[in-house]
Amino acid sequence: MKFIKLGKSELKVPAIAVGCMRMLDLDVAGAENFVNTALELGVNFFDHADIYGGGGCEELFGKVLAANPGLREQMLVQSKCGIVPGKMYDFSKEYILESVDGCLKRLHTDYLDVLVLHRPDALMEPEEVAEAFDALVQSGKVRHFGVSNQNPYQMQLLAKYIHQDILVDQLQLSLTNSSMISLGMEVNMESGGAVNRDGGVLDFCRLNDITIQTWSPFQYGMFEGTFIGSDKYPELNVQLNALAEKYNTSVTAVVTAWILRHPANMQMIAGSMKVSRLKEVCSACEFELTREEWYRLYLAAGHILP
Ligand SMILES: NC(=O)c1ccc[n+]([C@@H]2O[C@H](COP(=O)([O-])OP(=O)(O)OC[C@H]3O[C@@H](n4cnc5c(N)ncnc54)[C@H](OP(=O)(O)O)[C@@H]3O)[C@@H](O)[C@H]2O)c1
Repeated sequence: MKFIKLGKSELKVPAIAVGCMRMLDLDVAGAENFVNTALELGVNFFDHADIYGGGGCEELFGKVLAANPGLREQMLVQSKCGIVPGKMYDFSKEYILESVDGCLKRLHTDYLDVLVLHRPDALMEPEEVAEAFDALVQSGKVRHFGVSNQNPYQMQLLAKYIHQDILVDQLQLSLTNSSMISLGMEVNMESGGAVNRDGGVLDFCRLNDITIQTWSPFQYGMFEGTFIGSDKYPELNVQLNALAEKYNTSVTAVVTAWILRHPANMQMIAGSMKVSRLKEVCSACEFELTREEWYRLYLAAGHILP
């Protein structure tokens, strides 16, 4: 396993984390087996959210922790709050505090290693978030904080008020959804990749030591499916297969290696609940794509170099 430092903290974390959004694919025994295998592979970082499976994913994970009390100290558990499904986003102090209590209860733990604000709330009062974060640190319920799907100005606004570092920004990134990378290569052009969708979040995070956690690394669109084997991406699949053959590995590992090759030291959040798939993902740490191969995949995914 490759390890990275999480943001400005001293936390050493695996460059691959388990995303638990699809955990209800498993029963309790399956979840226990999956968590234990992940730990054996060095993947001791688990990403949750209060809303995954309507709370069911945290609950299932909590059952695994309840049955194996020794596990909690071997892992880092992150969860998110702030989305009230189908209704609104809510970063009020009251809602954040209530949400964390719900996460802790479902997860069967008394602290979160990282709390992440899930999606920017237009009505956010940063002073309230600061009060919530201070209360959570004081009560020992949360150790570190991060955000998700936020642009640089949103993080700067929050940072002006809170007393803790923002360690992570969790953002969508895959070979096919890499506008944060295209933006930096098509500066000032009339091409599609020049459209500034995120305020330059990639460079901002690198400048400010904020770890980018990449969500849906195997998907195209927003949960439309994986591009691996998809007839929508014939050239990309040709190149992925060729590199898998060259490195005597799986296409899954090559896709993972493409993200790990980026010098921003990102943490990839992998969402499959299959042990075999997680092993393939982790084997990406055994080789490194060359610069030319990284660009070849980028181009094959449909991006351009002006
Ligand atoms: N912050 C946010 O707004 C946000 C949004 C979405 C997700 N997330 C986080 O990101 C995590 C990952 O998201 P995700 O599950 O969409 O990511 P993902 O790892 O890109 O997708 C996993 C899905 O892709 C399928 N897949 C098919 N072929 C695959 C292959 N060759 N290799 C790997 N997977 C393949 C998997 O199926 P199999 O079951 O067959 O392996 C699984 O259903 C979530 O669990 C969650 O923690 C965060």
